[in-house]
Amino acid sequence: MNDPLFLLAPMDGMTRASFRSICFDYGADGATTEMIQSLALGRAKKRMSPTFMEVLVRFENEKNLAAQLIGSVPEMMAESARRLTAMGRFDAIDINMGCPARKVVGSGNGSALLLDPDRAVRVMAAVKAATSLPVRLKLRLGWDGEHITAPGLVREAENLGFESVTLHGRTREQRYGGRVDAEAIRAIVRSVKLPVYANGGVTCAGDALTFLRETGAAGVAIGRAALKQPWIFDDIARLRGGEAVKPRLAQERISLLIRLAALACRHRPERVAVCEMRKFCGWLLPGLTGAEGVVKRLNGIDALSAYTALLEDYLNELVRSNDVGVHPELTPDCTLDTV
Ligand SMILES: Cc1cc2nc3c(=O)[nH]c(=O)nc-3n(C[C@H](O)[C@H](O)[C@H](O)COP(=O)(O)O)c2cc1C
Repeated sequence: MNDPLFLLAPMDGMTRASFRSICFDYGADGATTEMIQSLALGRAKKRMSPTFMEVLVRFENEKNLAAQLIGSVPEMMAESARRLTAMGRFDAIDINMGCPARKVVGSGNGSALLLDPDRAVRVMAAVKAATSLPVRLKLRLGWDGEHITAPGLVREAENLGFESVTLHGRTREQRYGGRVDAEAIRAIVRSVKLPVYANGGVTCAGDALTFLRETGAAGVAIGRAALKQPWIFDDIARLRGGEAVKPRLAQERISLLIRLAALACRHRPERVAVCEMRKFCGWLLPGLTGAEGVVKRLNGIDALSAYTALLEDYLNELVRSNDVGVHPELTPDCTLDTV
């Protein structure tokens, strides 16, 4: 049996090349770009818009990176797959059949395809025929408890020669909350030969290993937990190697945030990239003494130099007062649903 893979799950607006790159440094085994609208990409003129260019950036340390398409018109999905293939920068094409957003399903895309398996299969076949790259599928168990269509769609993916499937163990009706059905994932894993990666509800490294055991999957894809603990991939490797997980002190958190901003400025305008760092600081700093005040002060900052100076000064202060640890009583209860 192959070693299990621990992947970064795609998250729209969050998992650009900069953030993925940090997760790869921590040992992620693969990742997927945010979803790319096939209608927009398929019809784009030769020169693509800056937003597309940004989502399509790949950094040097990224490996096993799939570009994800969302759409329900087979011809448009095929045209977009051809364009992504021609760029020569991705290792695979992934199809999104999981997005639950009302706007997305309202146009028949994302998890709406779970209600229309015939169309879903036509989309899958069109993409497969349009690219020489391996094709992957990301889906949920079904639309709701009455429409559990993943078992059939995963079999179709296997018949079409897909490389793998990532399966979120919830229905569209559950959105991002409620119980993840590890048993249902396990039944699907057992019914096919292609690798199935289990997804949904992992909150820490220990959880990921339990989920792997419960589902018998080929690996686990981690979404929201990685935003708050990008080191989760390293924690998993440590646990698998029989070590304890490592406390992530102020030095590591703050240098990560400085590096993330510098990387983000490589693919986004500086002002936008720095403003976006506020949410990552809001996830990674709490627990450190004085974090709240620093996060507040970031609100007035949109230059990389000022952002970096503020964090460096903060770190120096913590080191000077010998207070670099994380205090559980200062850490707000970060459930996954708060992302
Ligand atoms: C903010 C956000 C954006 C997401 N964007 C995408 C996306 O673009 N494509 C996709 O396939 N899934 C997307 N997802 C779903 C995640 O990949 C994942 O399936 C889901 O969050 C469950 O995993 P988790 O419990 O580990 O977060 C998104 C999830 C969140 C929270």
